[in-house]
Amino acid sequence: MFWLKTKIIEGKGSLGRLKKEARGHERVLILTSRSMKRHGFLREAEDYVEEAGAEVLSITGLPAEPSVEVIEEFLPKVREFGPDLLIALGGGSVIDTTKALKVFYDAPELNFEGIAFMDRFSKPKPVPKLRTRLIAIPSTSGAGSEVSGASVLKKDGIKYNIVTPEIAPDLAILDPRLPMTMPREVARNSGLDVLVHGIEAYTTRVANDFSDAMAIRAIKTVFAFLEKSLEGDEEAREKMHYASTMAGIAFLNARLGLCHAMSHKAAWIGPHGLLNAIFLPYVMEFNASKSDYARKRYDEIARELNLKDWKELLSAVRELNERTGVPELSKLIDEETFMARLNGMAEKAYHDGLISFNPVEPKPEEIRELYLKAYRGE
Ligand code: ATR
Repeated sequence: MFWLKTKIIEGKGSLGRLKKEARGHERVLILTSRSMKRHGFLREAEDYVEEAGAEVLSITGLPAEPSVEVIEEFLPKVREFGPDLLIALGGGSVIDTTKALKVFYDAPELNFEGIAFMDRFSKPKPVPKLRTRLIAIPSTSGAGSEVSGASVLKKDGIKYNIVTPEIAPDLAILDPRLPMTMPREVARNSGLDVLVHGIEAYTTRVANDFSDAMAIRAIKTVFAFLEKSLEGDEEAREKMHYASTMAGIAFLNARLGLCHAMSHKAAWIGPHGLLNAIFLPYVMEFNASKSDYARKRYDEIARELNLKDWKELLSAVRELNERTGVPELSKLIDEETFMARLNGMAEKAYHDGLISFNPVEPKPEEIRELYLKAYRGE
C-alpha cells in the first residue's frame, strides 16, 4: 500500500494560498514559534487569513522538542478560542504539537497514554474521526511532519509517537522563503534528518517501489544540495525543503528503523536531527554486518549515488557528517550522566515500535553496544 492524505502546494510565495484555503472558515488558530513572528511570516499569514474573512488568533510561544506538558499547557487556549481551522506554522516541533492539540481538542475523552505507542507491544486505542482541518506550513526542512500521520512528544525525556491518519495534515504549504531564515545549525540538523529518513525508509522491511522513489530522490538531494544550502544558496535550500517532504512521504509509508528508535530514547541529550545523524553510521554498519537484505539495499542506494557499494555509502555518510561539523556524542553529554542512563535507553529502544521495521532485530545488549560505540566515537 502507498498512501498520502495531504495535498501539497509548493513554490515561492505559496504562503499566499492561505487566502483561498481560509475562506469559508470562521475561526482560524495559527500555532507558531518565535522565529516565525520575528521574520514576519506570522504577520503575513494572519493578513491572508483576515483577507479571507475569518477571525484569526495566534499562539506564538510553542517550544522546540515538545512534551506532553506542553500540550496540557496550550490545550485550554485552543478550547477557549474554538477554531474550525488549525494552521501549524513552524518547524517539526510546532507541527507535531499542533497535531497532538488537534487530537485532544477534537476528542477530549482521549489521553496521551491511551493512544500513544508507549512501546512496540502496546495496543493504543484507535483515534476516532477528527473534524478540525489542519494546514501545516513547515519552516525547517527535515521533520517531514507536514505529511506524516505521526506526532512525536517527549515524556520524561523520551519520545513517544501518536500515529493515526487522522492527524496527517489536510494541506501542506511548502514555501521555500520560510526555511531561508533557518540558522546554519538548524538547517544542518534538519537536513541530515532528511538523509536519515531516506536511508531508513529505503531499508525497512515494508519499503516498496513507491516509497523507494521518494526515499531515493530525497537521499540524492541531500548529497547534491545540503552543503550548498548551508552556505545559504537559495536554490539548494528550496531543493532541500521539497526533499524533506519527499522523505516524509517515504517514511509515512515505509516507516523507519533502529536509528530512530535510538534517537527517540536519547531525546534528552540533544536535537532530534543531530542525534539521528550521529547514530546513523553505527546503525548502518550494524545492519549491514547482520543482514544480506540490508547490504543489498544499501548497495542499491550507493549505486544511485555513483558509489560502488554499501561500504562506500557508509564512508560518504560519515564524511558528510564530518564536513557539516556534526559533533561526537561525547561533546553533547558528560560521561557520568550518559552511563547512568545507558541501560535504560537501550532497553527502551529495544521496546520501540520502529524496531519491528528495521531489517535486523537487535538484542538490547547490541543496542547498548551501539550507543557506547557512538559515545566513544569508535
Ligand atoms: P525540526 O523541524 O527539526 O523538528 P524544530 O525543533 O521545529 O526543528 O525547530 C528547531 C529550532 O529552529 C527552533 O528553536 C526554531 O526557533 P523558534 O522556536 O525560536 O521559532 C528554529 N527555527 C525553525 N524554523 C526557523 C526558521 N525558518 N528561521 C529561523 N529559525 C527557525
